[in-house]
Amino acid sequence: MADQVVDIAVVPVAGRGTRLLPMTKSQPKEMLPVGRKPVVQYVVEELVRCGIKRFLFITGPGKTAIENHFDLNPELIQMLRETGKEELLRELAFERAAVDYFYTRQRRQLGLGHAVLCAEPMVDGQPFVVALGDSIIGLQAQSDIVARMIAVFETEKADAVIAFETVPREDVIYYGIAEPEKNWDTNGHFFALKGIIEKPSPETAPSCLAVAARYVFSPVIFTHLKHTKPGKGEEIQLTDAIQRLIESGGKVLGMRLPEGERRFDIGNFESYFRAFVEFALADEEYGEGLREYIKHLMR
Ligand code: G1P
Repeated sequence: MADQVVDIAVVPVAGRGTRLLPMTKSQPKEMLPVGRKPVVQYVVEELVRCGIKRFLFITGPGKTAIENHFDLNPELIQMLRETGKEELLRELAFERAAVDYFYTRQRRQLGLGHAVLCAEPMVDGQPFVVALGDSIIGLQAQSDIVARMIAVFETEKADAVIAFETVPREDVIYYGIAEPEKNWDTNGHFFALKGIIEKPSPETAPSCLAVAARYVFSPVIFTHLKHTKPGKGEEIQLTDAIQRLIESGGKVLGMRLPEGERRFDIGNFESYFRAFVEFALADEEYGEGLREYIKHLMR
């Protein structure tokens, strides 16, 4: 089989995480623990399993903990060896994944679309994945949706493939929402998009299919991003650039997360708490005991 063409992921992590204050005052939200690992480690591990070899983080002020996390830490390794804690070394195995990390700063907070545009010089005319750094896909990040999106992107010669999940109609106000082409079955392997709109009202939303934090793009998206004016929240929206791409005749496809595979959003306390509890309950060592403890609390 030929090598996968798409092997670079752009991971925007520049958002300030104000909805999670005070936790995020001096710590990036992408470094918050969910079960045993910080959110961003799940994102990287998911993408490595999907064939990604290069990561470009779009960072902002106060995000250096992310760089430190993916760096090799020889002193820590030596200390674990010298103190006979060899078994803990496997917890650091992710440091040695055969991938490259790059970091650049979004120097002005102008929105997600602008953050992705910061990747252009590095992506250098190649197709790429965008994975939002505050969302985990699937329990313990076991999703292979990005690998399947890349396969469809390549075989269909698409300009973009976007992951979607169904949300309750009252929640469409939080997401980019798809308008699928009429004659396409959105339960099929993939579907074509006629339009996409950022955070519509429940009354005007064209569907309940919400963008689920993973995208594959051809570099043509940069041309559209450059011409995208500030939209919702006065920010340059990635969704608006995708709409421009569709209007210019680009082939934009959607894929739904499969049944039983969910997006865990770390952007607010409610969804963060739920994600933490669910991942902790799935922990091989402590999950069962925690389940008993919670049952005891609920009595
Ligand atoms: C962003 C995107 C939105 C998408 C969401 C979750 O919104 O703008 O289209 O549905 O991520 O993937 P945010 O959560 O940054 O407001």
